[in-house]
Amino acid sequence: MPDRDLDTNVKAALAEPPRRVRQLDLPDGRRFWLKRVERLSGLMRLQKGDPDRAFAAERAGLQALAEAGLPVAEVALEGPGWMLMPDAGSVLPQVVADASRTEADKLAAFAQAGRALGLLHLAGLVHGRPAVRDICWDGKEARFIDLERFRYGRRGGLWQAADVVIFTQTCFTRWPQDTTWVNAALEAYAVNAPDGAMAQVRRLVWLLMPVGWLSWALSLIRPQSRELRAVPLALSRLRDA
Ligand SMILES: Nc1ncnc2c1ncn2[C@@H]1O[C@H](COP(=O)(O)OP(=O)(O)O)[C@@H](O)[C@H]1O
Ligand SMILES: [Mg+2]
Repeated sequence: MPDRDLDTNVKAALAEPPRRVRQLDLPDGRRFWLKRVERLSGLMRLQKGDPDRAFAAERAGLQALAEAGLPVAEVALEGPGWMLMPDAGSVLPQVVADASRTEADKLAAFAQAGRALGLLHLAGLVHGRPAVRDICWDGKEARFIDLERFRYGRRGGLWQAADVVIFTQTCFTRWPQDTTWVNAALEAYAVNAPDGAMAQVRRLVWLLMPVGWLSWALSLIRPQSRELRAVPLALSRLRDA
């Protein structure tokens, strides 16, 4: 059935100067997100890489995950250089910060996120950068929304282990003192991930130990960097995982 309301709103939004991501609220209460190819200046292009390639990689990632039956943001409509996704809920840091949510709901969000990453690895895929801020929770399902670095991989391979390290590091960046959330996610990950995945994570952590020391040393010079301070915390959490 043609969705005139949606078409009109998308057309109007596309006529505006492009922004990479924008929220689109319809008069009937439905919420969507419009993603477009970034227009970068020469210098930014050098720093961030080719935006068309990144957009194509993201589209391929969304499609591959959907085809594998994994929880991922849906693509409702798309065209050259843009795609429209239904709202997938709040990103995990917003979930934690939301005082109106129960502890059980928050724990469920992280358990589902860990499970989603485990299933993604079981399907032989690599997320590439599963940051907590790029996972949405709608009360039932935790979905990946941002897949620019997605690729195919090997079950229990090092790139999959790197996903776990990155996820954990982003959790310690947000919540350096509170391991409740990362623990809920890692527990569910271990249950759903391929055999040997956690052993591979421990192996990678071992290889990354010098990075942990370096980050720790650098964090003395740059004490304001939460990312740097999170690296040794993440590595020591995963060493014993
Ligand atoms: N489908 C979606 N559902 C809910 N929120 C979304 C969705 N897509 C994007 N967002 C919101 O927009 C923000 C930026 O989108 P994201 O896909 O992460 O792009 P970027 O590459 O700019 O980080 C997200 O952090 C999230 O808050
Ligand atoms: Mg993002």
